[in-house]
Amino acid sequence: MQKEACYQQFLTANVNPRELKYYEYDNEATSAYVYHNSRQLINFSSNDYLGLARHPELIARSHAYAKQYGVGATSSRLVTGNLQLYQSLEAKLAEALQKPAALILGSGYQTNVSVLEALLDRRVLGGEALVFADKYAHVSLLTVTQHLCQLKRFIHNDLDHLQLLLNKHRDSTSPKFIIVESVYSMDGDIANLVRLIELAKEHNAMLYVDDAHAVGIYGAKGWGKAPEFSNDIDIIMGTFSKGLGSFGGYIGCSEIMKQYLINKCRGLIYSTGPSPAVLGAMSAAIDILPMLGPERQRLMNHSKKIRDHFDRLGLHYGNADTHIVPWIIGDAEKTLRASQLLEARGILATSIRPPTVPLGKSRIRFCLSAMHSEADIRQLIRAVEEVKELL
Ligand SMILES: Cc1ncc(COP(=O)(O)O)c(C=O)c1O
Repeated sequence: MQKEACYQQFLTANVNPRELKYYEYDNEATSAYVYHNSRQLINFSSNDYLGLARHPELIARSHAYAKQYGVGATSSRLVTGNLQLYQSLEAKLAEALQKPAALILGSGYQTNVSVLEALLDRRVLGGEALVFADKYAHVSLLTVTQHLCQLKRFIHNDLDHLQLLLNKHRDSTSPKFIIVESVYSMDGDIANLVRLIELAKEHNAMLYVDDAHAVGIYGAKGWGKAPEFSNDIDIIMGTFSKGLGSFGGYIGCSEIMKQYLINKCRGLIYSTGPSPAVLGAMSAAIDILPMLGPERQRLMNHSKKIRDHFDRLGLHYGNADTHIVPWIIGDAEKTLRASQLLEARGILATSIRPPTVPLGKSRIRFCLSAMHSEADIRQLIRAVEEVKELL
């Protein structure tokens, strides 16, 4: 194909064109409020669930580290980008995750893509792996996976279906992996880790749990859903970019796996390490996370209030049981209109449409924050009630 023809293809490929919108934040306010076209909106689309993106301690340590170490790591961690800081950061992280070792990488996306690429290497495993992944697993869990293994997708959170697929391949000698999220980002529902562990054990499969949307919110000290089961989960993956307020991905694993990944993980070896300013924010988040119990409780209260109200209005939120509450409308156009009507009422909540969610499952996703006030939640509830009548 000629270059011009490629461009023509690019031009016509976007069936549902996406748009990069621009937002501004008030210096004094938290990420719960945002300006769009000079209007202040209550932000129900952010992943800054605890408001740590604006936390004074994260900002102060980020400043301090930038001042002391510079704003760039200057090279890969495998070259000279591996500041001494990593030693204590990863030791604290491993302890928090209750795993023998931890490894910090660029973003959460980079972590999933490059860790799975390394783990599924056919030459190392002696053949193609059989990977069983939830239908709604995040794209970062599937991007390379689909090219490297025999991928079997099971119906979202349907562990009977997973069991069926595992049983079908019971006699296969291929190495087996099960890949799930603990809290699903588009649905706000929770995986049954206890049963997943049982199935992984029965079928001698490695269990990879992406805890991205649980970190900060769940667990006695806020380290997510997976650490409670750390002995039975091979890889706990998480991110600093959501509930922990800054940027960067990590895994908790065995020492053997960490050493293997240091040698194999291309996203670690061939990419510049995270900026020291980001390491400062990570370090402060690690220190203060256990003290944020009241914020976690507040988030749960907000979520329950909204779900109770949706029940009264007869609105669908699937099996959501977390700080992420979808309003499942179904039709994509209607959902887009709902999002516009909400925005007119001061609520920023983006519409999520196919291909991000299945056809007929378009939704408005409300991501709650501990920084939302009671008045914000009341405004949301009022707006949803009005918009429901207008749709
Ligand atoms: C389940 C899940 N895993 C991983 C990621 C990627 O994390 P990050 O934003 O740190 O790249 C996301 C981000 O949306 C996610 O939802």
